[in-house]
Amino acid sequence: MDKKLKITRDGPILVSGGLPLYREAIVADANGDPLEWRRVEELEAGESYALCRCGASKNKPFCDGSHISAGFDGTETARRVPYSEMAELYRGPGVDLTDAMELCAVARFCHRAGGIWALVEGSDDPVKKGIAIEEAGNCPSGRLVAWDKEAGKPIEPDFEPSVSITEDPLSGVSGPIWVKGGVPVESADGHVYEVRNRVTLCRCGRSGNKPFCNGAHIRAGFDDGHINE
Ligand code: FES
Repeated sequence: MDKKLKITRDGPILVSGGLPLYREAIVADANGDPLEWRRVEELEAGESYALCRCGASKNKPFCDGSHISAGFDGTETARRVPYSEMAELYRGPGVDLTDAMELCAVARFCHRAGGIWALVEGSDDPVKKGIAIEEAGNCPSGRLVAWDKEAGKPIEPDFEPSVSITEDPLSGVSGPIWVKGGVPVESADGHVYEVRNRVTLCRCGRSGNKPFCNGAHIRAGFDDGHINE
C-alpha cells in the first residue's frame, strides 16, 4: 500500500504503507530553549495503524475507539492553500526565511540565540546563519523554512518517510504527530493537503486548525503518559 495518512471523520488518523513510528522528545540547551530532537524509541506499529487524534484514547498514541464516547468533533478547518500562500518572506544577508504563522505547533526551536528572525537579519555572520538554518530545520510543522539565497531553494532536512509522536518535557506536555519525508495527508473528504517534507497533526483534539496542530496542546496540558521518558 502507498505511504499515506488518512484523516477520518471525527475519528483517528489511518496510517498505511508501513511507515515507521517513533517517539521523539525536545531537548533543551543550557538556557532552557529547545535545541534538538532526541529519538526516545521506535514503537511497534506494523504495516498500517490508527493514531488517536481526539486525545481520549487510553492506548495512546493508538486509537481505541474513545472518540465515539467522547463525542469528538474532528472537523477539519485548516485552509487548503499551499505553504507559499500562507508564508511571509524575511530576507537576510546570508539566508532568507519564510514563516507561515498559522502552522505553528509551538515547539519553540526558533527562540534560541536571540530568535530566528534576528539571526536571519544578522546572517552575514556565518555562525548566526548556521544557527538560523538549524532552527528552521528543527521546526516540526514546517512553519519556518530557510532558503539558500544563491540557489533560490529551500534548505530542508533529509528525512526518511516516517511518523513521530512528539513529547515536550520542557513545557510538561505531549505534542503533535510529526509527519516527515513528504508523506501525503488526505482529509476525510478526500482532499490531499500540499505534500511537504514536514507537517504536524493534532492528536490532543483541541487544535483550531485541524487536522494540523496549532499549539493548543500546551494550554490543554495534554499528557499521553510518556512526557518525561
Ligand atoms: S496536538 Fe497540538 S494542538 Fe493538538
